[in-house]
Amino acid sequence: MKTIIEPFKIKVIESIRMTNPEERRQILSRAGYNLFLIPAEDVLIDLLTDSGTAAMSAKQWAAIMDGDESYAGSLSWYRFEEAVREIFGFSHIIPTHQGRAAERILFSLTCRPGDVVPSNTHFDTTRANIEYRGATALDMVIPEGKEPALLHPFKGNMDVEALENVIRKFGKEKVPLVMLTITNNSGGGQPVSMGNIREVSETAHRHEIPFYIDACRFAENAYFIKLREPGYESKTVPEIVREMFSYADGCTMSAKKDGLANIGGFLCTNDIKLAEKEKELLILTEGYPTYGGLAGRDLDAIAVGLREVMHEDYLNYRIASTSYLGNHIAERGVPIVQPPGGHAIYIDAKAMLPHVPVSQYPGQALCCELYRAGGIRSVEIGSVMFGRWDAEAGREIPAAMELVRLAIPRRVYTQSHIDYVVEIILDVFAHRDSIPGYRIVQQPPFLRHFTARFEALPAGGK
Ligand code: F0G
Repeated sequence: MKTIIEPFKIKVIESIRMTNPEERRQILSRAGYNLFLIPAEDVLIDLLTDSGTAAMSAKQWAAIMDGDESYAGSLSWYRFEEAVREIFGFSHIIPTHQGRAAERILFSLTCRPGDVVPSNTHFDTTRANIEYRGATALDMVIPEGKEPALLHPFKGNMDVEALENVIRKFGKEKVPLVMLTITNNSGGGQPVSMGNIREVSETAHRHEIPFYIDACRFAENAYFIKLREPGYESKTVPEIVREMFSYADGCTMSAKKDGLANIGGFLCTNDIKLAEKEKELLILTEGYPTYGGLAGRDLDAIAVGLREVMHEDYLNYRIASTSYLGNHIAERGVPIVQPPGGHAIYIDAKAMLPHVPVSQYPGQALCCELYRAGGIRSVEIGSVMFGRWDAEAGREIPAAMELVRLAIPRRVYTQSHIDYVVEIILDVFAHRDSIPGYRIVQQPPFLRHFTARFEALPAGGK
């Protein structure tokens, strides 16, 4: 059987409001050419993020009706705690309203000014929470992970030799923990191998440094291990997950990804003293330790989602549908980060639009054209997001890459939606020479990509 079908039927639908290119041209202009400023109702296919956008199952909705909203010790909490403990195996579990809340609590207690925290690649909120403590977030992905077109089964792996050197250079007192992001979101959604998880853990532990996992897309990573790493072909996904986390001292998690929930997260540790301090902080900002900023019904939705996400029929469809999109555009010449990742396809906008200089934001230019042509909302991960102003040089330093991320919400879009996305991308690719660059006309001092306004430049303009 060659055709992989969605392993679910549709019980509830949400209508898409159809628009045409002329309407979308006006919508874009009103939004200052920033897709974050476009109402979701005006988007046909929303690939802005895979976070909090999953379609929940009938079983999750049923569990929501069963949610217990008691302030302390609710039944929902016990069901959530049991699921997290069974899947991940940690002794202390702290619920939070989303992933970054878990990060803030962890780094507030472990990081001091001058510390360094190595990872394969830190996600932006992780980096920001580390830097907010006056510490430095270090990205140490293997060299293959930085070459968009290069094929490698585990491009999310960490460079273990570089890690060893950093620990030697700074000394173990300055490294409060070592982290791995699985899959590596900022590095193209690429997986980390079991061998690398084991080696990173051994290196950290040899220096008596705790090892943590950013677990957001743990099930997708586990399935890649099953597909690509010798020795894991006949293991079940829950077995692989259990082994992955057995090497770690704790984890941070956003249940908005592989929790198949619309909100929620958690922090885990095996260190009882740290767990006590984490719970004190949790009470200050998130809530009592048996709900941590979530409603009882959210805890129940996550408990069911964490188990559903490990079903192999689901993961097979998930990974196949992401690579279907990537492969169909790549075989016609669209430059993408290879091989396709678990949750998203990343188009290399610098390579696709060589006539748009990085100072005119090729990623932003491509995002706007995908929206105008097909109502597809993507996100720029390039110089709009990561460029920074160099006051001495009097100019902006561009980001390392100019990517456009097409993140696929879980269980939301069907094969024909994805076929439509392929068709629009190929259409945009055919007239790519006519796509103009952009300039920023208004921007805030921080996180400008959310609110900046742009203006299209005349073709070939400066
Ligand atoms: N870690 C990773 C690897 C992430 O991708 C995210 C969120 C977080 C932590 C933070 O979790 O949003 O629940 O606070 N990524 C989203 C994205 C926002 O679009 O990639 P959160």
